[in-house]
Amino acid sequence: MEIFIDSADRDEVRRAAALGWVDGVTTNPTLLARAGVSMREAIAEIAALVPGPVSAEVLADDTEGMVAEGKKLAAIAPNVVVKIPLTEAGLAAVRALATAKIATNVTLCFSTVQALLAAKAGATYVSPFVGRLDDAGHDGMALVEEIVAVFRTYDRTTRVLAASIRHPAHVRRAALCGAHAVTAPLAVLERLCHHPMTDVGLARFAADAAAAGLTTDG
Ligand code: E4P
Repeated sequence: MEIFIDSADRDEVRRAAALGWVDGVTTNPTLLARAGVSMREAIAEIAALVPGPVSAEVLADDTEGMVAEGKKLAAIAPNVVVKIPLTEAGLAAVRALATAKIATNVTLCFSTVQALLAAKAGATYVSPFVGRLDDAGHDGMALVEEIVAVFRTYDRTTRVLAASIRHPAHVRRAALCGAHAVTAPLAVLERLCHHPMTDVGLARFAADAAAAGLTTDG
């Protein structure tokens, strides 16, 4: 499963890249607005920090505008994936970009049928928004599970990217159901590695080694 950081903050992306297991980055207009730098500058810098895909979202709402913006975003770096909203105009743009061999991430997906349409349009990734569904009283991960199952049934190659992730249990359920990728804020990524029993076990090993005077040289 690919693991991405959901951030447009270059320092956060640098810290995530240093973890050694973060594959790529997703951004969105809100995150880029918060970062306070030009979109092109931020995406170019971020794309140089990670080996994998960096999603950058179009701002236009018509097909022609999205395709034009998508081509410009894709030209910033070879690992840029063009993020397109899941609208009628967006799906037509996905088809045009797929024909031009430009990778896409269809965002703001809230239903299984929407995801199926994104796959049929030729999307590289589709992003169901788990946390926002949970916030509205639904079971966001159930949507991810359903999309993974439907894509298996119809042998779709579009990758399911669980987005709007709020905590490690979301990541666990994404992995269990076979989601291809997750994207989460740095604070969630940093919590993934930790377990209190690891800390307790490590403290005991350190105490036993110190008591016996163990060194790796002798
Ligand atoms: C994904 O690509 C989105 O940027 C993101 O996951 C949205 O998350 P939020 O609901 O926490 O804003």
